[in-house]
Amino acid sequence: MAGAEIEILLTKAVIDRRVRKLAGKISRDYAGREILIVGVLKGAFIFMADLIRGLSVPCSVDFVRLVSYHDGSVSSGDVRITKDLETPIAGRDVLIVEDIVDTGITLSRLVEVLRERKPASLKVCAFLDKRARRRVPFTADYVGFTIPDGFVVGYGLDYNEKYRFLPDVCLLRDIA
Ligand code: PRP
Repeated sequence: MAGAEIEILLTKAVIDRRVRKLAGKISRDYAGREILIVGVLKGAFIFMADLIRGLSVPCSVDFVRLVSYHDGSVSSGDVRITKDLETPIAGRDVLIVEDIVDTGITLSRLVEVLRERKPASLKVCAFLDKRARRRVPFTADYVGFTIPDGFVVGYGLDYNEKYRFLPDVCLLRDIA
């Protein structure tokens, strides 16, 4: 970590504008319905908090936490739920809210698991999308920003549990 440099990639103002727009689009798409928002811990908590306050349709919230196992630094593709939903989702309009899609492994597994519970609809809203890093095909229904490869922190995203509190999304360079 010594010598790591931090550079702003997305300012709070830019993020706020985009999140408001996304919330508007989601509100229009779900008009007349109530959404069950499923936040993926931990990274999504700040995005989710901002997004739902921009909605003009009613929603309730629940959370899941997933752990992805790694062989060294490479994901093995083995994803397990370590905290499950407390809400039954059968017949509900479910929107998963995630901070970032990277390899796509976490979200494709989560979608697969939740689909088996027969929601009325199941969509995904990802704040950031690193398309260049995909290892399994995955397309989110709503995306805040598509970003190039690089280690990003802030606005909920961490490096070793640090930096989640930063209001901007920042690039961390020269991490060991
Ligand atoms: C991050 C992120 C996604 C996942 C994306 O979670 O929040 O859940 O990795 O990666 P993938 O597309 O390659 O599967 P992380 O394990 O860092 O946990 P955190 O949200 O608690 O920081």
